[in-house]
Amino acid sequence: MYSTGIPHFLRNGFFVSQFSAPTILMCPPDFYGIEYEINPWMSRSRASDSKLAQQQWHALRDLLEEVGAEIRLMPPAQGLPDLVFTANAGLVWNNTVYLSQFRHEARQGETPLDEAWFQSVGFETVPMTGAWSFEGAGDALFCGQTLFAGYLIRSDAGAMQWLAGQIGCRVIPLQLLDEHYYHLDTCFCPLSANEAIYYPPAFDDYAQAAISAHVENLIPVSESEAARFACNAVVIGRKVVLNTGCPELERDLQDRGYEPHHTELGEFIKAGGSAKCLTLRLDGEDAAIWPGVN
Ligand code: ARG
Repeated sequence: MYSTGIPHFLRNGFFVSQFSAPTILMCPPDFYGIEYEINPWMSRSRASDSKLAQQQWHALRDLLEEVGAEIRLMPPAQGLPDLVFTANAGLVWNNTVYLSQFRHEARQGETPLDEAWFQSVGFETVPMTGAWSFEGAGDALFCGQTLFAGYLIRSDAGAMQWLAGQIGCRVIPLQLLDEHYYHLDTCFCPLSANEAIYYPPAFDDYAQAAISAHVENLIPVSESEAARFACNAVVIGRKVVLNTGCPELERDLQDRGYEPHHTELGEFIKAGGSAKCLTLRLDGEDAAIWPGVN
């Protein structure tokens, strides 16, 4: 039912990308719900409306396709309500995926399914080493060639250092302070090699200074728009897809030559996630510029 349609792609030992367009992994919300509480947004007393969640997820999928993305699907699984947040499956680097090792037991059952899916479509999968927690593209985001790495709440700094060593890239560790912004992708969003959206109060002083020193053009968001998950945006070339209720950020994006698109994702905010959390770029987190989508 959920065919992936991805061909095998390694020829003569050279990496040949299997993707000819920005490609995104999503997981239908068939078994989505608020079944446990592992971040301050989640409350079992605030159930999600499953019909509305389906509608919002499909509207996001349609919008991503409209702005030029191809969507691949991970089959949903009963008992794993947060599998919809594919950003947390791992960190994709060329044809390798560094798999997550979730902090909370409630999500640990996702990793074997992620591993099997990635292997079935020809990715090399690398498990996290030792006892370090690591939550994939929720906490590890490339801005240009540099890996920006959120740690403390969900991922461990040691995991990020190890990853950077494996990949051979520079890593900027960023300590997260606020339990509401527990993953880096809830408070930081690279737009291009030298441009990012961020919510400064989510970071300690050192992290704020590191971001300012390494990213030339920063767009700070207000407290109220941060709480609408303004930073949890999906960037496809110059197009930016995000939740509703972020008019100031949309204006700032337009002023910088970006084209914002919004769609309501309130049912997923109940679990502490929005557009970016529901997606994983399979052609890499680097803000790749594709012909025809700008
Ligand atoms: N309920 C999920 C959790 O707390 C939400 C994950 C959101 N994902 C993200 N990439 N920020 O783990």
